[in-house]
Amino acid sequence: MTALAEPVEVRPMATSALRPNRFSLDLYGDPAEEIRADGLLDSIRERGILVPLVAAPDGDGFELLSGHRRLACAKALGMESVPCEIRDVPRGASRRRAVLDYNRQRRKTFSQLMREADALEALLSPAARERRAANLKGADGADRRNSDDRSGRTDEAIARALGIGGKDLYRQARAVWRAAEAGDPRARSGVSQLDAGTKSVHAAYKDLRRRDRFTTGFRPTPYDVWAFRRDPAYGVPHPGSIPAAIVAHTLHYFTSPGALVVDPMAGGGTTLDVCEAMGRRCLAYDLSPVRPEIAQHDVRDGFPPEARECDLVFCDPPYHTMLAGPYAAFGVEAEPLSGWIRFLNTLARDAFAALRPGGHVALLLANQTEKDLPAGFGYVDHAFLGYAALMQTGFLPVRRISCPMDGSYLPQHVQRARAEGRLLGQVRDLIVMRKP
Ligand SMILES: C[S@@+](CC[C@H](N)C(=O)[O-])C[C@H]1O[C@@H](n2cnc3c(N)ncnc32)[C@H](O)[C@@H]1O
Repeated sequence: MTALAEPVEVRPMATSALRPNRFSLDLYGDPAEEIRADGLLDSIRERGILVPLVAAPDGDGFELLSGHRRLACAKALGMESVPCEIRDVPRGASRRRAVLDYNRQRRKTFSQLMREADALEALLSPAARERRAANLKGADGADRRNSDDRSGRTDEAIARALGIGGKDLYRQARAVWRAAEAGDPRARSGVSQLDAGTKSVHAAYKDLRRRDRFTTGFRPTPYDVWAFRRDPAYGVPHPGSIPAAIVAHTLHYFTSPGALVVDPMAGGGTTLDVCEAMGRRCLAYDLSPVRPEIAQHDVRDGFPPEARECDLVFCDPPYHTMLAGPYAAFGVEAEPLSGWIRFLNTLARDAFAALRPGGHVALLLANQTEKDLPAGFGYVDHAFLGYAALMQTGFLPVRRISCPMDGSYLPQHVQRARAEGRLLGQVRDLIVMRKP
């Protein structure tokens, strides 16, 4: 441990003599990018630096242990010197420990906390390993030194140091963090939401765990009404995301394991994630991709060549003028209804061309009753239009499955509809057809 409690002299130090600490930059990022956002710059401009920086002698200069943001402000304000405490902290683990200790009170994002946790693990685990090696000769006499059992004590200590509750919550946080590091897109989305403070660790962890919903113990409904709720464990947040169970049931009833599935308007990637969970291959495209596994492609240019001979095309398009706002780049919503119908016909032809004989197309379409109806229309039956487009192309009808929208109306909408004696639309159909 560092001798941080010992009194030391505070003296002015040239800003040019202070070198940043690499470990601190790795943990908390480059302070030059955040100083404007939190008002520190204005405060230092008005009142100067009230709390001295801390540095350790380092070769011919000094390495900063605490005060990277204050130093960045001082440099931005053209200050030549700053008040600084000099502490003789040896290089290596002691300095890393000092950086962590000095930043204990700092307000941190989830990512910063987890980088701290990684650093603490590296500092604490050699001791923990030794402890385990001594203790883990089991009652049966077996030597479990190679066991990857984690030390509860280390996790407890890290959780306490981070201030994130007990070891169980820390273990959940670490599971999300590790999955995000390994590239899991939902875990990465969870981390962004944790950083923004819009999700709890427990909720992000539950999202990860729930992913085995369609693998172990999946009991598909035998009925053709698929009234499911959205499930944040699949797909990243997206304005038009659909319940994952709709995709899971489509895969279950109309594809076999290993099948090639194409989603040309993938949105948040629900299809991608469910395919992964259920052992189907998936090619996903979108005009405005939000994940790296979704390729940028405009479906109006046809299907990409790699989609040829696929087993299932799953289409969840925006419904004409509905949701035109979130999908501003979509061209069809601005067209009259005839343009939308042309789009459906082209989509049906392209899906037909991409599918292998015997393959299926699944087209999800909701009726339009509330918003942005084309002039002269009180209601547009998009499912009917989609059905007609698929039939015209030569597909054979297989099923029309009811997938009611999951309660997207606010209480005031419901109240107004009641007062006006209007029917609110919840009808959404999945039309499944087969290429002969
Ligand atoms: C209803 S959302 C799909 C939501 C998705 N099923 C999910 O669960 O997240 C429709 C998607 O179609 C995309 N899109 C709209 N026009 C497109 C086009 N011309 N080519 C490709 N994608 C398009 C939009 O960007 C949007 O992400």
